[in-house]
Amino acid sequence: MNIIKARNLACPIDGDPLDSREKQLVCEHGHVFDVARQGYVNLLPVQHKRSKHPGDCKEMVSARTRFLGSGYYAPVANKLAEIISAQITGDEESCLLDAGCGEGYYLDTVFRYLGDSRRGNDISFIGLDISKPAITEAARRNKQITWLVGTNRQPPVTPGSVAIILCVFGFQSFDGFNKILKTGGKVILVEPGPDHLKELRAVIYNEVRKSGPPDIASAEAMGFSLLDTQQLQFSTGVIDREQINNLLVMTPHLYRATQAGRAAAAQLQELDLTVDVVFRILEKT
Ligand SMILES: C[S@@+](CC[C@H](N)C(=O)[O-])C[C@H]1O[C@@H](n2cnc3c(N)ncnc32)[C@H](O)[C@@H]1O
Repeated sequence: MNIIKARNLACPIDGDPLDSREKQLVCEHGHVFDVARQGYVNLLPVQHKRSKHPGDCKEMVSARTRFLGSGYYAPVANKLAEIISAQITGDEESCLLDAGCGEGYYLDTVFRYLGDSRRGNDISFIGLDISKPAITEAARRNKQITWLVGTNRQPPVTPGSVAIILCVFGFQSFDGFNKILKTGGKVILVEPGPDHLKELRAVIYNEVRKSGPPDIASAEAMGFSLLDTQQLQFSTGVIDREQINNLLVMTPHLYRATQAGRAAAAQLQELDLTVDVVFRILEKT
């Protein structure tokens, strides 16, 4: 794989292509975006924000970095990398975009996996997240990926320029995905399966629901078709109290739990968890 720089960035204000100049990106109408000291670019104009500090906060990002860094979810990242590798066929240039990439753990794993393969394709990697703390952390992780603060609702890349979008436990916007994907391009959704973290949910909720990923009728109505569904289940082995806390902080569970649920979670010393993840591959037809 030959890693190339993303050449399809677009101005979030008027959609014009962005050119790179020194430490800035500039569109032909004169909108200018600085490359931050850490190497990312903020392409989220104030008019696209729904709150002052959108997305995951610093505390959630740090908890996720500590938890994912422990390797408990490595089988998920590796399977994602295998799925993506199988989707890159032919030898044309491809752009891979992680929509809601968080602190970059999954995209970085995919980057390394494809980098180790012997294929000769030119690939550019873009990690997009609405959270500035998440992108700041991601930019520390891998300097060869283009990291952008921006929204999945209006991804700041040119229409029809992306071959594969991955969305891992992320905020899905098929309107936004549809605009930037090529015809024949893929969306890879990674979502919790019915048994995901069931042991933890049994502690913090009164009732443990066994629901799988949501239906994709709205995506199908837009012209996406489901090509394949794969499931991965494994057990983490014993997780200690500190990592349980990281897991709770990085997911919505802590905020959804009742007060009694939170108190019960605080008493946990260790837990052996089921990870149940569903991978769905959709094609833009
Ligand atoms: C549950 S986290 C998953 C992060 C990462 N994909 C992972 O699995 O480690 C969801 C992420 O979506 C981001 N997010 C929420 N709304 C978003 C939007 N409209 N556009 C882009 N990212 C968004 C959050 O900031 C957060 O980083």
